[in-house]
Amino acid sequence: MKLAQDTSRPPLEYVKGVPLIKSFAEGLGSLESFQARPDDLLISTYPKAGTTWISHILDMIYQGGDLEKCNRDPIFTRVSFLEFCVPGVPSGMETLQDIPAPRLIKTHLPLALLPQTVLEQKVKVVYVARNPKDVAVSYYHFYRMAKIHPEPGTWDSFLEKFMAGEVSYGFWYQHVREWWELSHTHPVLYLFYEDMKENPKREILKVLEFVGRSLPEETVDHIVQHTSFEEMKNNSLCNYSSVPLHIMDHSISPFMRKGIIGDWKTAFTVAQNERFDADYAEKMAGCNLTFHS
Ligand code: A3P
Repeated sequence: MKLAQDTSRPPLEYVKGVPLIKSFAEGLGSLESFQARPDDLLISTYPKAGTTWISHILDMIYQGGDLEKCNRDPIFTRVSFLEFCVPGVPSGMETLQDIPAPRLIKTHLPLALLPQTVLEQKVKVVYVARNPKDVAVSYYHFYRMAKIHPEPGTWDSFLEKFMAGEVSYGFWYQHVREWWELSHTHPVLYLFYEDMKENPKREILKVLEFVGRSLPEETVDHIVQHTSFEEMKNNSLCNYSSVPLHIMDHSISPFMRKGIIGDWKTAFTVAQNERFDADYAEKMAGCNLTFHS
């Protein structure tokens, strides 16, 4: 483990044109030694799309719905965050070493930075997409509390950066599009946060089928119950409350913030919304993905 250093709000660092949290960018080289296994399951998302939610769902599925087994570790240890690298905290590659197969691994990387071994080993991917307006709002509050990001500035300036792809992991638009395109040639289950909110049981059944498992109906109901926003918010193993303060400050904004569809309406002005919609239409032209917001 490296020594703890000052991690307060360094600027993003570009790798192959993609802006990343500086320490993640610096640690990315270590992913060259990553060897995917055919029985790995990769959770892929653009940040703030519901990564933690689907991670807990998948771990509960893998543990047969046994909450005691899920209580073995916090979510960020049960599901390794592949590119995570912050001085003084075990990296994603380090936590991966302690995870028995079949492994659950999460990433936010765009395809340009994804280790090729994932594709070569035909690793199954569960991708979750969320409407970009709620993502932008959630990301703004996450930037405020997760101090490994640069200062977010005002909401207005952050929204401009989001549209310009000048936030960590770059363009949301490109991310959701390229993983959607990949789903035509690679085993990707492409889910939407809004569908999960609308009918979590239906979406969990899709996940079960995709990972080739089945569980009794009462176990599925139990998973639905224990992966609800309220349960996860109050579960210290899911809500990131154990993360050191110099990385996340929940007094600024909790990680489990609102967990709703349409919170953007409380943040966007009419002018911001019109500008966003026009920009969205340009960037998503020719793409048949539709989002509910
Ligand atoms: P909000 O900030 O809009 O509340 P990620 O895990 O990808 O970082 O995403 C975090 C977002 O997902 C946050 O959104 C968080 O509240 C929401 N979230 C986490 N668990 C959830 C759940 N069980 N149900 C609904 N939303 C959830």
